[in-house]
Amino acid sequence: MKKTMETIVSLCKRRGFLFQSSEIYGGLNGFWDYGPLGVELKRNVREAWWSEMITSHDDILVPEGAPRAFSMVGVETSIIMHPQVWKCSGHYDLFHDEMVDCRECKSRFRADHISTSECPLKPSKHPGEHDACSLTDPREFNLMFKTYVGALSGEEGAAFLRPETAQGMFVNFKNVLDSARVKVPFGIAQIGKSFRNEITPRNFTFRSREFEQMEMEFFCHPDESRQWYQYWRDRRHQWYVKLGIGSDNLQLRDHDADELSHYSVGTADIEYAFPFLDENEYGELEGVAHRGNFDLRSHSEGKLIKQNDELVVETDSDGNPKYRGSGKDLTYFDDQSRERYIPHVIEPAAGADRATLAFICEAYREDEQPDDKGKMQKRVYMQFHPKLAPVKVAVFPLIKKEGMPEKAAEIYRELKQAGIVTVYSQQGAIGRRYRQQDEIGTPYCLTIDGETANDECVTIRDRDSLEQTRIPVKEIVSEISNRLRG
Ligand code: GAP
Repeated sequence: MKKTMETIVSLCKRRGFLFQSSEIYGGLNGFWDYGPLGVELKRNVREAWWSEMITSHDDILVPEGAPRAFSMVGVETSIIMHPQVWKCSGHYDLFHDEMVDCRECKSRFRADHISTSECPLKPSKHPGEHDACSLTDPREFNLMFKTYVGALSGEEGAAFLRPETAQGMFVNFKNVLDSARVKVPFGIAQIGKSFRNEITPRNFTFRSREFEQMEMEFFCHPDESRQWYQYWRDRRHQWYVKLGIGSDNLQLRDHDADELSHYSVGTADIEYAFPFLDENEYGELEGVAHRGNFDLRSHSEGKLIKQNDELVVETDSDGNPKYRGSGKDLTYFDDQSRERYIPHVIEPAAGADRATLAFICEAYREDEQPDDKGKMQKRVYMQFHPKLAPVKVAVFPLIKKEGMPEKAAEIYRELKQAGIVTVYSQQGAIGRRYRQQDEIGTPYCLTIDGETANDECVTIRDRDSLEQTRIPVKEIVSEISNRLRG
């Protein structure tokens, strides 16, 4: 079965996963809203990441493959930060794409996307079509959204919406060190919105102008940084595999030297074969970067640039720093080895929306199953990992009488009270109710039938195997909880 983006996008809208932002006004390009099911799915993606990074992390045990035990803490930092942050981080000068305008169709394109862009004058996709049009020379376009803080509308009040969450961790390095009593190696994680004024937002939520990131900055001794880089690169890849992304659709790709960001010593991308891409093409889900000590040094000394393979503070024509750093001491003192150094940083930077989109694309399945009358019918089902499924359980009375609705409502309430996302439905034939749940990826359906009053058991149906077994009513919550944990 070839999955197409059209079927996936239409399911997302029909069942309430994703809507275009401000749709009733015609939408706004690059902005998206999550509907009732999408919000639960994305919450589960965030929760799975936060649990992996923070809540389930064991500070004492050495995880498999790690050089030693380490601590992990979280932060939530502001979207608008001091403008100097972006000058020292390099975003003010360097965070831009090259854009070109087509003089014929008046559209604007990213210079590196031009061969696959669609010209509205020629609606079918013609790679390279624009070469024949009259394109302007490429111009630099900074991707940061500018805003004004307070009543000052001039340049003194200018600020930016953050284009990444990472800087919030760097500027709080000392605060966390002093307050959380952590020792290097340790990581600081954050989930939050970022904004980039992308020239060509496209491919559903893949490239949006407002999106959410899940980033972690891991501070370690320079001599151990390559081992930690390897560790996080492999561990992050495994996270997607554990949550159900098939290995054929996932790849871990090391960047070539010419692809590396201005700060990076080494980067690997975790990539997914999204259905909107051509065969054998992959799109980035997460980047795992070895950032060296670039960020801490920049925020201390001033914006750095590479000169003869060394990072030095960039200066103006008078020899002063082009952008001054905070001047704060952002070194770390190891009281056992008595060594003072600037930690190196390993950064796994994931996108919550991209990961959610990949889990949606991966989950989409079609097969054929007999309906209530035994006739084969196409079934669409979302094979979400039970941890990610927006609804975990659906409870159905087989018929609307003989005490079945009352018993079903009792079970529904018990599951809700245990914090398990559950829905109740008594409308329509049972086969139809199953199919409605399959289409949103509910892993378990419970049916209360005529026998329930006698044997105090219900039927549990598994979305994937379609297996139906009977379980005692008093074991429902523990049985479902165990299955969700597994
Ligand atoms: N701090 C490093 C950093 O921000 P990045 O590769 O630019 O690195 C990290 O972004 C992740 O954020 C990407 O792998 C992607 O999942 C997500 N992301 C970046 N730009 C995005 C966009 N315009 N729309 C949706 N997600 C985006």
